[in-house]
Amino acid sequence: MKLVLVGTGYVGLVSGSCFAEFGYDVTCVDKDKSRILELKKGKCPFFEPGIEELLSKHRDQTKLLSFTSSLPEAMEGADIIFITVGTPSKRLEEDADLSAVWNVAKDIANNIKKYSLVVTKSTVPVGTTKEIKKIISKIVPKENFDVVSNPEFLREGSAINDFMRPDRIIIGADNEKSTKIMKELYRPLYLLETPIITSSIESSEIIKYASNSFLATKISFINQVADLCESVGADVQEVAKGMGVDKRIGSKFLNAGPGFGGSCFPKDVKAFTSSAKKQNINFSILEAVNSYNQNRPLEISKKIINLKKYNKNSKLALFGLSFKPNTDDIRDSTSLKIAQHLFDQGIMINCYDPVSNDNTMDLFPKFNFFKNAYEASEGADAIIIGTEWNEFRALNFLKLKSLMKNLVIFDLRNIYNKQELSDLGFEYYGIGK
Ligand SMILES: NC(=O)c1ccc[n+]([C@@H]2O[C@H](COP(=O)([O-])OP(=O)(O)OC[C@H]3O[C@@H](n4cnc5c(N)ncnc54)[C@H](O)[C@@H]3O)[C@@H](O)[C@H]2O)c1
Repeated sequence: MKLVLVGTGYVGLVSGSCFAEFGYDVTCVDKDKSRILELKKGKCPFFEPGIEELLSKHRDQTKLLSFTSSLPEAMEGADIIFITVGTPSKRLEEDADLSAVWNVAKDIANNIKKYSLVVTKSTVPVGTTKEIKKIISKIVPKENFDVVSNPEFLREGSAINDFMRPDRIIIGADNEKSTKIMKELYRPLYLLETPIITSSIESSEIIKYASNSFLATKISFINQVADLCESVGADVQEVAKGMGVDKRIGSKFLNAGPGFGGSCFPKDVKAFTSSAKKQNINFSILEAVNSYNQNRPLEISKKIINLKKYNKNSKLALFGLSFKPNTDDIRDSTSLKIAQHLFDQGIMINCYDPVSNDNTMDLFPKFNFFKNAYEASEGADAIIIGTEWNEFRALNFLKLKSLMKNLVIFDLRNIYNKQELSDLGFEYYGIGK
């Protein structure tokens, strides 16, 4: 089978290299010529554990993976074309910006020469895949193509494992022929007994948004419980543990913190709410999740400032800039939103992230950047744990003690033990305790 993936971001590149690992002939396309040039040279445009090895294996050894900025060239003889471009929020609206999807749909339509399956892997609002079908059918006879929705659930930081060992595959199709092709595509996962769930195209599109929105709701729920815990002297980690052992609830996504961020949850919650609004459906739960989460970074930064009366003479060390560990993706990073609020009050920000310093520097040139956590802590009035990279769990606190001006830790990810740090002389503030 010959596959084409249009868009070489986290989803396109990871899916493309994993499909090559399945044994398919894969071409990844991007309109960004410099990105394609780098990929041809063997450089991955982002940090993702294991991706460099997989890319080089299939680009250089098996030759199953190639890159181009020309869609017509990529589509020569293609059986399945995946749309894997970004669908960010529109600038001032909740809606998803689908301009890249529409552009790709038109380009694909112009290049279909034999029967091809067009698959939306990008996260798109309900109705989009059928709209793509309409766009293509203006140019291509209906017997020459089908459209399918096949949303992606990989998580940055563990994307390869998530793709190779998914919890489920969702196939939203409107005929047997395309369902059969998609089932054949994912045949390598049958050995793992991966559930393959078939549905209508509309249900498939909603499954993706409903899943992400549900997880985001779980996070906001535990964050509100954390607020209550803080007020009454309870500990949200004890509460979450007691809740999580209930199999109906589950322990995942019950870690209280500074709010959800990243390239998916915030925009998907908004786009899902917007889809519901357009149908006059009451989605007040998600509206509340969105507004509470949007305010949370500001509330946390106010709390930090008020607790110690920080001002323009203060210097805070921020550890972790990416929206979560094991990625260099800083899109909608909560850690950086908090840093910006603190900076707006005149506080100096000393940053360190194991892989995201360079990305962040371009967007936040007024922060100070350091090569490691210790350098960032020199003369600092406090440390803020913004993202729970593993290396922050094993810091040398005696060394930090000798470098910092004031021994205060704001552990926004609850990775430390309060007693242990207090014993070392640190003033410790976690979330929800
Ligand atoms: N990042 C994730 O963890 C994740 C997980 C599951 C689903 N998704 C969804 O997958 C989609 C892609 O996300 P991403 O994070 O990989 O995006 P991304 O922003 O990292 O990459 C998108 C790529 O598409 C390219 N592109 C845009 N328009 C193009 C065009 N006309 N032709 C060719 N290339 C074009 C861009 O240059 C860019 O390289 C989104 O809908 C997202 O919601 C993302």
